[in-house]
Amino acid sequence: KYLQENDLTQECRDVISSLPTEEDWVGSNHLHLFQGFWIISTCMAGVLAFQKYFQARDTDIILATTPKAGTTWLKAILFSLLNRVHYPDLLKHPLLTSNPHVLVPFLETDLYIENQVPDLTSFVYPRLFSTHLSYNSLPTSAKASNCKIVYLCRNPKDTFVSLWHFTNKLKLRGTNSLEEAFDKFCRGVSLYGPYWDHVLSFWKESIENPQNILFLKYEKMKEQPTYELRKVAEFLGCPFTPEEEAKGVVNDILSLCSFDNLSTLEVNKSGKLSSGHPNEAFFRLGKVGDYTNYLTAEMVEKLDRITEEKFRETQLKF
Ligand code: A3P
Repeated sequence: KYLQENDLTQECRDVISSLPTEEDWVGSNHLHLFQGFWIISTCMAGVLAFQKYFQARDTDIILATTPKAGTTWLKAILFSLLNRVHYPDLLKHPLLTSNPHVLVPFLETDLYIENQVPDLTSFVYPRLFSTHLSYNSLPTSAKASNCKIVYLCRNPKDTFVSLWHFTNKLKLRGTNSLEEAFDKFCRGVSLYGPYWDHVLSFWKESIENPQNILFLKYEKMKEQPTYELRKVAEFLGCPFTPEEEAKGVVNDILSLCSFDNLSTLEVNKSGKLSSGHPNEAFFRLGKVGDYTNYLTAEMVEKLDRITEEKFRETQLKF
């Protein structure tokens, strides 16, 4: 079970006490501006422990994402890709009975939840982890090692709409108005936000260090899934062999991890994570451009303007 604010350690309270604070979108906790990014109070102990104790190995693979960028999807894809020799029989694949978040845990919220070093001995090599932290906030050992980071982001308009739906779903009482949430998102006050700074932190690093950081976009994954998956496999040093290509392994992985398949599995329709989050909350629509059904023309213009300003110095386009 995740921590409640009442359970925070003294170390956490001390860190939090000096930080700017806002109410989180779900309404049960607070967000704190820590190292330039808004972290939920109950995740702070995990973030501190992850930063302090994580020892990266050169063979590690870390999936880093902005919330609602398609983390669940890419967790499923990376897990299937890396374990494809262990699970040749797709009818017995772990993804059929386990949610991707169980198979690929978050470092700062699932593994380093207490002020101690978790036992990671059960992880097979290469170890596959995930994180929502910005590049700047990753532990020094992860940045200094040769581990590979796959980063996924998504256009800010769909990211915002997805986050708004998700947090309303988790809210115990009432819903956040779209306008109120939009204002917070634009001010950068969102889970692990500011969204733009998060994207930029990995973008810059992926340019300087393309061997270790692969920068992906949800939209491109949707548009050219086979191309993107082959790219990921090469980046991770496990390209598809001609035999695998001939057998259709690329498409098998994509079909297994497709929205239609994962969202209709019993485990994802009725299961829950240990945090209490219902698995179905991670599968809503899975399409590009749903923002047009929610945002007004003024909202679109405002988000586009902020995005253009923030990404002006880069080649980044959404
Ligand atoms: P929508 O709310 O727009 O539908 P995250 O996993 O980072 O929390 O992101 C969740 C978003 O990814 C949701 O977007 C969800 O529907 C979408 N998603 C989940 N599984 C997916 C899949 N297999 N393929 C494509 N999109 C998926």
